[in-house]
Formats: sequence, structure tokens, C-alpha cells
Amino acid sequence: MAGGATTPALVAGVSNAGGLGSLAASLLSPSVMRDQAAIIRSMTTQPFLINLFVLETPSPSQEDIAEASELLRPLWESLGWDRLSVPAAWCESFEGQLAALIELRPAAASFTFGILTPAQVERLHSAGIFVIGTVTTVDEALAWETVGADAVIASGVESGGHRGTFLGPQEEATLSAKALWPLVAAAVKIPTIAAGAIMTGVDILEAMSLGAEAVQMGSAFLVCDESGINQHYRNALIHAGDTPTRLTRAFSGRYARGLENRFMQEMKAVETRVPAYPVQNALTTGIRAAAAAKGDTGLMSLWAGADIRRARPMSVAKLMQTLVAEMRTK
Ligand SMILES: Cc1cc2nc3c(=O)[nH]c(=O)nc-3n(C[C@H](O)[C@H](O)[C@H](O)COP(=O)(O)O)c2cc1C
Repeated sequence: MAGGATTPALVAGVSNAGGLGSLAASLLSPSVMRDQAAIIRSMTTQPFLINLFVLETPSPSQEDIAEASELLRPLWESLGWDRLSVPAAWCESFEGQLAALIELRPAAASFTFGILTPAQVERLHSAGIFVIGTVTTVDEALAWETVGADAVIASGVESGGHRGTFLGPQEEATLSAKALWPLVAAAVKIPTIAAGAIMTGVDILEAMSLGAEAVQMGSAFLVCDESGINQHYRNALIHAGDTPTRLTRAFSGRYARGLENRFMQEMKAVETRVPAYPVQNALTTGIRAAAAAKGDTGLMSLWAGADIRRARPMSVAKLMQTLVAEMRTK
């Protein structure tokens, strides 16, 4: 979970309990990736995974940036700013991150937002790394199988954070988790890893009864003691009550699910016009950071899955124990 939720303690905690902890490296430079992997390795001897976004570095025109900044004007003006700063870089270089990942040789690597070439998959395999692609449709699952992936994560529309869609319009990749999992499992020979609204051991068993060989969970771990999210975000999740989650491209330029808030509501009318990820994501980073510093959850991205209300705050070790116990008592 990129953006601060994943900490080495959370990753190691999952791996130490027999799961596969995942280091979200999409926003990290190669040198920070190395530092974080070293800390994880000091906390666990068990396998872990590194996750990246498959991205091309964009080069938006000055006009595109000016227009995007204008669409965000009501939000940055409300912070008392007279202009929106343009970031020095839009994203990390994917090639640089992939080279660092291969050098670090985690047991597994997962990818989202795009697909690797067969040659890139081969480079990972030559380093002994198990390769997983994230999919939101059957066609995407077949595409990852064709390039040589070892497994696919089938992410239902309920999933928290960004949709991984890379073939066809993101708006059309809306299959629910329970509809998508059996379709993907039937279409590919490689294992299907189920994702989307899995919060308990009983949910894990249900996903496995629908064709999954493993599950990926995000939101359930967001409220663990070891999660790196700030106190305001954590409180918003724990006290979500009736606040709905919704998919929005307002924060990042790619559809992602989070708790509905003022940012989403004010941008609703123009969200289809904001530039694609990572440009919009980089342009809104300062707004979100300033809001977080003030504790203003109205302008933060409160990424969360549709079933966030069922998340249980506790330590990662306790959550893993609880999930296993729930699977055994069913
Ligand atoms: C805060 C947050 C950040 C996420 N960041 C990433 C990421 O960096 N890479 C990725 O592949 N998936 C990311 N995801 C998706 C999760 O890996 C997982 O598929 C999803 O959370 C499953 O749905 P759930 O939240 O209902 O458990 C993120 C999810 C959340 C909630």
C-alpha cells in the first residue's frame, strides 16, 4: 500500500506470521527501496514481496499543467495559496525501480497499472523472483499469463486504493470481487489471488471457494498498529460510520477508491478532465500533504476499500493470528 501505509514493520509482521508481506515501492527511489528492503530483512528472515506501478514517465505541456492547476484552484485557494507549485518530477523512473527490484531479489514481485514485456518477466525469473500481475478483467489476466506471469491478483471493484486496469477504459472494469474471481480462475492456468473486501478469515475461505488459491488484503491492514497512516486518516477510517467509499480520479488521474470527502465532492464535476496518473497525483501531493499537516481530512486522500467498516484495529501479529483462527473454526 503506497503512500505511507506500508512500513517495514507491517511487511515483516505479515511475513513473520506466515503471510507474504508486500513493500509498496511505487513512490520510492531505488536508494529508498534498498534501505526499506534492508530494514525488512533485519526484521524477518521470511519471504516478502516488492510492488511497483508499471509507468512511463509523462511529459505534459505547460498548457496541460496550467489547465490542471486551474481545475484544482478552489482547493489550493482554500489553503490560502496564490498558486499551485509544480513538482520537480512526475514519478520515479520505472526502469530504475525495476533494476533495483531485481538487484534486491525479493521472493516475489507484483505489478499494477500496466503489464511487463516477456523479456522483463524473464529478467525477474532469472533472478528467481515469482512474478504477479494485477488484473481487473479476464482479458488482463490472459495478457499477464501470455507474458509469463506466475500468478494474477484479481482485484474486484470493492478494493481500496487504485484500480489496476490497463486494457480498455477504467470506467468499464467494474466487476465485483465475487463475480471476477471465478471468471479469472476459470480463464487462466496460473493461480488466482483474490482481492477486494476480504476482511476476515471467513472471507478468505469464501474467496478460496470461488477459485482463488490465495488472497491479497489491503484495507484490513490499514488500521493495524504498524500501519504508517497518520492519526487523522486512521480516525477517519475507524469512525467511517455511514460515510460511503467511492471511486474517483480527482486525486491522481486514475480511478481509486476512498472515503468520500470534500476534495472528491468539489472535483466531481471536472474529475474526468484532470490529467492521467501520475501528473494529477503529483500536482495534488502538496495539497494533500498540507491538509494532512493541519488534520483536515476533507482534502486528504482517504483510500479505503468498500468494507472498511469491518476493519479491526490491532497489531499485525494479532490480525494474522485472528485470520488464521477464523479460517480454522469455520
Ligand atoms: C491505501 C491503499 C494503498 C494501496 N496501494 C497499492 C499499491 O501501491 N500497489 C498495489 O498493487 N495495490 C495497492 N493497493 C491495493 C491493495 O494491494 C489491495 O489489492 C486492495 O487493498 C484489496 O482490497 P481491500 O482494500 O478491500 O482489501 C492499495 C490499497 C489501499 C487501501
